[in-house]
Amino acid sequence: MTSLAVSDAATLALRPARTAARWAVRHGLPAAYLSRSARRGDLVGRLMRDRAVREEPYALYEQLRAGGPLTPSGLGWVTTSHAVAHEVLRSDRFGVGFDRSGAPRPIRWALEFGDDAGAAGVAEPPSMLVVDPPEHTRFRRLVSRAFTPRATAASEPAIQATADRLLDDLGRSRAGTVDLVDAFAAQLPVLVIADLLGVPTERRQDFLRWGAAAAATLDPGLPLRRYLAADRALRAMHGFLDEHFARLRAEPGEDLVSTLVTLPAGEALTDRELHATVMLLLGAGFETTVNLLGNAVVLLDAHRDQWEALAADPAGWDGAVEEVLRFDSPVQLTGRTARADVELAGRRVRAGNRVTLLLGAANRDPEVFPDPGRFDVTRPNAREHLAFSGGIHYCLGAGLARLEAVVALRTLTERYPRLRVAGRPERRDLQTLRGFESLPVALG
Ligand code: HEM
Repeated sequence: MTSLAVSDAATLALRPARTAARWAVRHGLPAAYLSRSARRGDLVGRLMRDRAVREEPYALYEQLRAGGPLTPSGLGWVTTSHAVAHEVLRSDRFGVGFDRSGAPRPIRWALEFGDDAGAAGVAEPPSMLVVDPPEHTRFRRLVSRAFTPRATAASEPAIQATADRLLDDLGRSRAGTVDLVDAFAAQLPVLVIADLLGVPTERRQDFLRWGAAAAATLDPGLPLRRYLAADRALRAMHGFLDEHFARLRAEPGEDLVSTLVTLPAGEALTDRELHATVMLLLGAGFETTVNLLGNAVVLLDAHRDQWEALAADPAGWDGAVEEVLRFDSPVQLTGRTARADVELAGRRVRAGNRVTLLLGAANRDPEVFPDPGRFDVTRPNAREHLAFSGGIHYCLGAGLARLEAVVALRTLTERYPRLRVAGRPERRDLQTLRGFESLPVALG
């Protein structure tokens, strides 16, 4: 046996212990802590631990808002304020990294021991989502070329053709009702991002399955069973990426990943950086837009007059998409860590403290959006929402997501003007992402 094989065998033998350590420190302990906070009446604890509250969080957001723009909670500081979230996102006194230096030794040990590149998710370094400059700048610069307004606009004909094809297939379905998430809202984003990343579209059902399991790793406090499913999905995804990179190194195409795997020596990404970057693009590319599309259809179905007005004047779709992003944001929260002691909203936030930004609540802040609980596709300032975050981590795919949503919703409305929700839509059991697991519709 070579020394490499010995270390591989040791890695494999240690895997269950590592996985258990990762789960315990990232999910088991936070779950216990949040549940205890919830029992003591902590509102954020309830938001995180109570599925019914999570499914309909807006009343709880208002209770939190009544406590002031920045309040202490079981998750550290939390804000529902648009102004405070906006300030934190744009401030270089806050970063995305967690400060582990102050954590108790056993926790630091478990984090280090549990570290496993083969099961890393999109919310773990070196994913650009959770690293600060200068690494963040380096990663973002390498990929942003594929997301310029010009590159995005150039993909419109392909997005339109994909939407048309999926809606043709939908029309051939003989069932009385179809699941619009499964048949359309989930398929379009995965096909679009697969194309951009040169990924074979035949594998899209695999991505959807893996993505659905792995999306939960964005949430704190996952039960062990769901964590293990996510762990398996992430390992399968990394395995697929290894094959994909090898294929593109041998035969590069015109896509973004081909560029990334063939960078000159001085710029090249390490294997772990490459995995983190492509995994994020792939996951962010389809795990979020599906939620925007599902949320849009449910809201428009409940506000039929507004849907009919959009059918009559499709120029309104851009504004309608902004209002859906504001009113029922597909990413409900994010967080930042203070890099030094900071004054924020009249409070002293200590270096290393975490501030949770409830984007879904900031987007209903009455200081910015009059009558925020009213869904109005003609709202003049809907675009001021923070659904795509802000500052240096502002969503790289925002333009692409907007375009996909406008094309998808406009085409769906043209093709099936009498489409109706025909049954109870099921929410996904997630905290950070907000969307539907299934959405039964009758095509009319
Ligand atoms: C409706 C759809 C989408 C929503 C609501 C959304 C939302 C977000 C949010 C809130 C963030 C920043 C989180 C933070 O500040 O902590 C983000 C970052 C990001 N998104 Fe999106 N996203 C969407 C679609 C997409 C698409 C289609 C892509 C394409 C690949 C994408 C790629 C990214 C990337 C790469 C980042 C990390 C940017 C950075 O850290 O610099 N997203 N997204």
